[in-house]
Amino acid sequence: MWWLKAAVISLSVCAVLGGRHFPPGFMFGAASAAYQVEGAWNISDKSLSIWDYFAHTYPEKIVGNATGDVACDSYNKWKTDIEIASELGLHFYRFSISWTRLMPTGFPNYISEDGKRYYNDLINLLLEKRIQPVVTIYHFDLPQSLQDLGGWTNPLVADWFANYARVVFSLFGDRVKIWITLNEPITFCDIAYNVGTQAPGYISPGVGNYICNKNTMLAHAKAYRVYDKEFRSKQKGKVSITNEIFWLEADTERDEEAAEKARQLMAGMYCHPIFSKQGGWPPVIERIIAEKSKQEGLPYSRLPTFTEEEIELVKGTYDFMGFNYYTARTVREAKPGEEIGPWPFTGASDIDIILGERRDWKQADVWWFYIYPEGIRKQLAWLKEEYGDIEILITENGCASSSPYQYDEVRVEYYKDHLEQILLSINEDRVRVMGYSVWALMDNFEWNDGYSVKFGMYDVDFRDPNRTRTPRASAEYYASVVKSHSLDV
Ligand code: NOJ
Repeated sequence: MWWLKAAVISLSVCAVLGGRHFPPGFMFGAASAAYQVEGAWNISDKSLSIWDYFAHTYPEKIVGNATGDVACDSYNKWKTDIEIASELGLHFYRFSISWTRLMPTGFPNYISEDGKRYYNDLINLLLEKRIQPVVTIYHFDLPQSLQDLGGWTNPLVADWFANYARVVFSLFGDRVKIWITLNEPITFCDIAYNVGTQAPGYISPGVGNYICNKNTMLAHAKAYRVYDKEFRSKQKGKVSITNEIFWLEADTERDEEAAEKARQLMAGMYCHPIFSKQGGWPPVIERIIAEKSKQEGLPYSRLPTFTEEEIELVKGTYDFMGFNYYTARTVREAKPGEEIGPWPFTGASDIDIILGERRDWKQADVWWFYIYPEGIRKQLAWLKEEYGDIEILITENGCASSSPYQYDEVRVEYYKDHLEQILLSINEDRVRVMGYSVWALMDNFEWNDGYSVKFGMYDVDFRDPNRTRTPRASAEYYASVVKSHSLDV
């Protein structure tokens, strides 16, 4: 019965192949952010953002005293960026809008013609090349003028942001259908207000970061409600927020409770108010910080409360979930009196946990970068378990390296291993992952690491006034994944 044998063989081949194929409609993309690539920091009527100000005021806080003044010069070289995105065959390109380029005063009383033109050109050419623009409205670069009024710690920032978002939706929403309101609020609340290494660089651990945290939730929600009320019926797009989440794994079985507390702190503080059925802060964290504050003799919790109205305002403000994944840590309960470092997030000392790494995790040649591909699958499963069956867009995933080499095998391996785990998530755990974006299309200004840490599929020569972009092995690999829509490349 040769035909039966043949049928069995071809069925199993299909099953194997099918297992390596991404679902139809799954989108592949790459990402960037305005301050990290655009340069042209003081061109035309653009005003200063907190990163322009920070990089010029505290050069010692950035490796090599680097700034984003020129960066990849994408303000002038945007056509080249689209060309390389096109070479890769990307389905989407994620970039962010610079608030100070579009609305130099920070407020909608003045819109820059040059700013408008720049983003219109970018969006139009992307669409012409059949690349979908995915737009982040805010990626760390608050107008300095608003920082002078308190920035993310002033509750009015929620309205300032919603007014800015309204302008963005009204100018570009006829063509942009996927929006990210805020990128990684944990980074610009926690790192910025904890160790103070990121702009605006204040050190207010356990206070500033939580005030900022609450305000970001309200800012996101207000922008979402603006879209819902004023734009959705015509523009028919999707809006969400993007959170960075490390997979936090119990060090030993006994540490599961500590690990879960840590997850509620890192992921929950920025997800629970929006994505959970109950809304508001994760109860376990709310209780712990209230107790700590009491022990410190404070009459109220350092964690600002949400009113019932605010809980309702924020809850459910998503059409999908944005998720950035890079790395993982182990977690254990701190011993009494044990010193707890401030990194990577302030609250570690509020919840008495110690983070570490497993010996068998690979490490990239950048100190904080441990490689644990299974972590992305575990995190996706946790998100589904915690918040339900929500569509997820992986808005960033990528590998840090300090070397400029073109043959970046570690990065190729990193993409392959993470994409394999994502396929398992989709096929085995039935997580609805709608797409995947590499960070980053090209090397760029990596915040405190300046140009010393690279994430690009394209190398950028920052000594060359032309900022020549050269593909690495990872670009070639990713292009073949996109083309075959599978891992069989
Ligand atoms: C996440 C941030 O969104 C991005 O700006 C940064 O460059 C990458 N992580 C890599 O650290």
